[in-house]
Amino acid sequence: MSVIDIKGVYKAYYEPKLNEGRVVLKDIDLTIGDNEFVCIIGPSGCGKTTLLNMIAGFEKPLKGEIFYRNSKIHGPGPERAVIFQEYSLLPWMNVQKNVEFSLDRKKYSPMEREKIASKYIKKVKLAGFENSKPNLLSGGMKQRVAIARAFAMQPDVLLMDEPFSSLDEQTRRHLDREILDIWKEEKRTVVLVTHSVEEALLLATRIVLLTPSPGQIFKEWRLPAEKEDLISEQMAAFKNDIIRNLGVCACAKTPVTIDAQE
Ligand SMILES: Nc1ncnc2c1ncn2[C@@H]1O[C@H](COP(=O)(O)OP(=O)(O)O)[C@@H](O)[C@H]1O
Ligand SMILES: [Mg+2]
Repeated sequence: MSVIDIKGVYKAYYEPKLNEGRVVLKDIDLTIGDNEFVCIIGPSGCGKTTLLNMIAGFEKPLKGEIFYRNSKIHGPGPERAVIFQEYSLLPWMNVQKNVEFSLDRKKYSPMEREKIASKYIKKVKLAGFENSKPNLLSGGMKQRVAIARAFAMQPDVLLMDEPFSSLDEQTRRHLDREILDIWKEEKRTVVLVTHSVEEALLLATRIVLLTPSPGQIFKEWRLPAEKEDLISEQMAAFKNDIIRNLGVCACAKTPVTIDAQE
């Protein structure tokens, strides 16, 4: 069964200065299945965040429809957790409370919430920091809390928008590995936006390349879930092909505008 179905999606924003709509995404058709780890890549401004926000239910397509397990998406839902690019922790709450905060009070007792939060705090290697407030944590630790909070919700789908792009290379690699480990253990469907081909190669079971604005799907690659090193011949071939296609799609496109009323 498909988890997310994107059918004929088209998105434009009105530009007051030009008094016209600018197409951001065009003819997007994408079906994402159970336990897939899909990485969406493409140049800056091609509509990656917009696409993720529509799956999250924060934005609506202008044309076309998006379905979550055959139900049309009308807004955000707890089955689709989001990890944002910028840290989204509550500054007055400690690590433990930040993670517990995401858990449904009707569904879980305070003790259950504490137990679930502790389990995921351990998984992201923050045991011992439960009582720390966000201002005492490094950027990498803050994103670890955000990861723990999202996984603690036990969402069906995890949506991530360049979650580690503001972190240094080494921290980012650590967190990529941790996400990968948790994903292997927990078996969720993940959609991650990144502009890093290497990050996509490491994490994805499928990579979807969008063209420069207006974003359209240019090419997809299916990758093995088990890939111990990225310098194998097979992975190097994927990398070369992706980089070549990034160049090809950049040359093949011209911007499109539409009438604001459309
Ligand atoms: N709320 C909005 N109003 C107007 N334009 C927007 C809005 N959100 C995004 N855009 C425009 O849509 C285009 C795609 O943005 P975005 O989805 O953020 O791209 P990406 O994440 O690939 O860098 C950009 O040109 C951006 O300026
Ligand atoms: Mg973006």
